[in-house]
Amino acid sequence: MPVEIARARPDDVAEFFRVTAREALKTFYEFSVIWHEQIHDFAARDGDTIVGAATIRIAASLAHVERIVVLPECRRNGIGRALLRQAGDVANYYNCHKMTTMVPHGGTAQRFFEACEYKVEAVLAQHTFKLDMAVLRQFLL
Ligand SMILES: CC(C)(COP(=O)(O)OP(=O)(O)OC[C@H]1O[C@@H](n2cnc3c(N)ncnc32)[C@H](O)[C@@H]1OP(=O)(O)O)[C@@H](O)C(=O)NCCC(=O)NCCS
Repeated sequence: MPVEIARARPDDVAEFFRVTAREALKTFYEFSVIWHEQIHDFAARDGDTIVGAATIRIAASLAHVERIVVLPECRRNGIGRALLRQAGDVANYYNCHKMTTMVPHGGTAQRFFEACEYKVEAVLAQHTFKLDMAVLRQFLL
């Protein structure tokens, strides 16, 4: 079929992806899928000041830690671990069987997640910024 491929604006393709989603997901996963995605944010507050925050994305029974940040002067006080624990509780509530995240392999973020009982599931060679990246996971159920 002779077609022309060209750059498109998000609005141009949004409707196409909306109407094709059900069939495409069924073909991709080989069973009927209703895709539902949620984002949950968590904040650690000291009075009115947010000293740390985390965001997880839940979809397909998986919770992914998108970001977790604690103010530099507040680190190593258990705030990151507490944020991650609450994120895990929420993921568990929504029947997620697993939490994942991706961090530079061998770096401080990996040491933090490992201290919070995450394990290395895979290492993606020369990935983000050409760095080796570790995919970490924790099973919840
Ligand atoms: C990663 C981060 C969120 C950790 O927050 P935190 O509040 O300092 O973490 P905690 O105090 O709960 O640390 C829990 C355990 O993780 C480990 N850990 C945390 N930071 C570590 C570091 N820099 N080096 C080695 N281990 C570390 C330790 O075992 C720690 O326990 P301990 O202090 O009793 O030894 C924080 O360092 C940060 O904001 N980093 C920059 C952003 C980032 O890399 N985010 C992660 C991916 S988005």
